Amino acid sequence: MRVLVTGGAGYIGSHTVLTLIEKGHEPIVVDNLSNSSFESIKRVQQLTGKNVEFYELDVLNPSDLSHAIGDNPLDGVIHFAGYKAVGESVEQPLKYYRNNLDSILSVLEYVQASSHLLPPKFIFSSSATVYGIPSELPITEEATTGVGITNPYGFSKFVGERILEDTCNANPAFQAIALRYFNPIGSHESGMIGEDPLDIPNNIAPYITQVASGKLKKLSIFGGDYQTQDGTGVRDYIHVMDLAEGHVAALDFDTKGFHTFNLGTGRGTSVLELHAAFEEAANIQIPFEIVARREGDIASSFANISKAKELLKWESSRTVSQACVDAWRWQSTNPTGY
Ligand code: NAD
Ligand code: WQD
Repeated sequence: MRVLVTGGAGYIGSHTVLTLIEKGHEPIVVDNLSNSSFESIKRVQQLTGKNVEFYELDVLNPSDLSHAIGDNPLDGVIHFAGYKAVGESVEQPLKYYRNNLDSILSVLEYVQASSHLLPPKFIFSSSATVYGIPSELPITEEATTGVGITNPYGFSKFVGERILEDTCNANPAFQAIALRYFNPIGSHESGMIGEDPLDIPNNIAPYITQVASGKLKKLSIFGGDYQTQDGTGVRDYIHVMDLAEGHVAALDFDTKGFHTFNLGTGRGTSVLELHAAFEEAANIQIPFEIVARREGDIASSFANISKAKELLKWESSRTVSQACVDAWRWQSTNPTGY
């Protein structure tokens, strides 16, 4: 399939582009490199031995998209482009609403204007954050969304899904899938591509790897008094290569209308368990202290994965330990990122 990948130079995008090529698809990548580097695409080219069609552009301009891509029919669009730092979204809500909502509108407008017959399947990077304070555990796709979302980033995903649902309702030929990622970690087994945060990371996995490499002093564990197995927060950490394979599986799901799928492992891991798995993977002591809870955090979040298993014929196959080993390989061989 010929697939437009927006934000394809980023963390999840680059792993998905690699997987698409390995499965025989033809990705066309657009990215404004606001949170990534072209080096990730170069490395994908090295790993696959294939040239990647790449355009450095901002998807907020649909005319740039049509200029670059033209009218050659696409079979699919995977829309990763957006900002993702939760804390920054609280400080700069307009920046987040502008980019995350305008980008989806702009890519949809481009798709509608350029597809003469069948619109390409549209796959959107959503997030478990749409469940807010989960109404059930494990979380099914039918759980309430939108209640208890505490930040503009999360709302931008909730509204992004709604835009797609409304578009599908108005156009019966349209197919859109929102993939609700749980907590992506790890990197490709080669250690050649990985997560490359430009600032101090917000998410736990890159924070731990940077403590392990000596870049940061110690891990602060946010809260030790949750109602969980050991008092620390529980999340569903999914290997980024499993996540990438989930996107390829979604491309093969052929049903009109709007659909949502959880992409997780179905297993909850506490912060202390993740910390221990990482210490073992890297064979390094990672200093930590338990501090106050982080505002807006929930105790536990993990996915019910039955729907993706049944309809996408997809499930994760890699463990959290493997993800830690792969994350460490990436960090230790690329201490300054790309
Ligand atoms: P990332 O920042 O590494 O990748 C996003 C890419 O989009 C970057 O390469 C950036 O340069 C590009 N981009 C941003 N705005 C753009 C624009 N206007 N035009 C063109 N390119 C633009 O982030 P990621 O972790 O790979 O996340 C990818 C997507 O998945 C995002 O939409 C994110 O919100 C979503 N998501 C991520 C996580 C996570 O924990 N990483 C979890 C759930 C959902
Ligand atoms: C995981 C656990 C923290 C950092 C966020 C977004 C979500 C999605 C993934 C983006 C929690 C604890 C963390 C630290 C810690 N994002 N923690 N010390 O909050 O589940 O989800 O990222 O696109 O939308 O909300 O992920 O990695 O920040 O936290 O103890 O320095 O680790 O309290 O229990 P979160 P996270």
